[in-house]
Amino acid sequence: MATNGSTTEPWRVGVLFSNSGFMAVIEDTQLRGTLLAIDEINAAGGINGRELVPMIYDPGSEPAAFGRFAKKLMVEDGVTTIFGCYTSSSRKAVLPVVERLNGLLWYPTIYEGFEFSPNVIYTGAAPNQNSVALCRFLFDHYGTRFFFVGSDYIYPRESNRVMRELVHAKGGEVIGEIYVPLRAQRRDFAPILRRIRTQRPDVIFSTVVGEATVYLYQAYVEAGLDPKTVPIASLTTTEAEIRAMGVDVGEGHITVAPYFDGIRTDRNMEFIERYKSRYGEDQTTNMCVEAAYFQVHVFAKALAEANSMETDALRPMVLGAEFEAPQGRISVNPISAHTDLWTRIGRADRRGHFEILRESLTPVLADPYLVGYGRTAVYQ
Ligand code: ACM
Repeated sequence: MATNGSTTEPWRVGVLFSNSGFMAVIEDTQLRGTLLAIDEINAAGGINGRELVPMIYDPGSEPAAFGRFAKKLMVEDGVTTIFGCYTSSSRKAVLPVVERLNGLLWYPTIYEGFEFSPNVIYTGAAPNQNSVALCRFLFDHYGTRFFFVGSDYIYPRESNRVMRELVHAKGGEVIGEIYVPLRAQRRDFAPILRRIRTQRPDVIFSTVVGEATVYLYQAYVEAGLDPKTVPIASLTTTEAEIRAMGVDVGEGHITVAPYFDGIRTDRNMEFIERYKSRYGEDQTTNMCVEAAYFQVHVFAKALAEANSMETDALRPMVLGAEFEAPQGRISVNPISAHTDLWTRIGRADRRGHFEILRESLTPVLADPYLVGYGRTAVYQ
């Protein structure tokens, strides 16, 4: 790949998000965030005078396909940087490819933590940026008896392990833990909700992802439960899933995230306006759109400095980089290559937006191994 400043060849980057299959409900929004940022960068003249061109494949919600397309991008298409992946299983499928071929995966999704790769930049929240605040909030407002329901793959199992430790450390208990297939349907949740009604937890902690999220919340309504007394609390249910399930179905449930579309800053309002003008007035942003969007801008700034797509030249420019994102100022932590992000606790309202109940006063330092950084975060 040419790396000198005299060429006008475009910079090619890989993009891997599903716009088909059971994860499309959220991954398609990450694709949109990525393409919006690429449009903005090109409209402003590209990077060092060169256009940014996405090479896009649809892995169809299949983790193995992410690995195959990552290899194709790097080996056949000559790409070194890939924006992509929602599920941790898709990230785990791409990891050996980028590590072997020295690529750079930009991963814009909340995940379970406990990972570091010299070939990944993590721009979604780690557990210390969401689970810790969520656990504290639920204890303060709802109670100490948790019921876990999750999709059956690595993120839910690991995220529940972390949440169980947090719950136990505060003297609470986990009274149930159930996993459903990633492709679960509404009928799969009916018996789980019956069990929940019988066991009467104070809170349901959901690590269900993708389309199955819709069925969990719909089955909750059918079971006649009330979010005022026993809400579903989640780290992954965004404005996109709420829209898909029906805004009345989502109302009253809790999510913790770095970003909600209800953030009242000029920066966010402008972001939402640009998103709507590209994708439609009825569309909403969410934490996954936002991370997918800002990470492309962080990449573009680093590339302008490195003027090279070689990972060894680009990555040092990324570490420590700061950006005025729609959620507020973020920075890529130079130690962990995870991002220092804001923490916000939101409750879904009847219009499908999140009312922000609490938020950190500053970005919370990324601490993917939960060794103690960021524990001093202050909330208002
Ligand atoms: C996830 O699988 N990281 C949500």
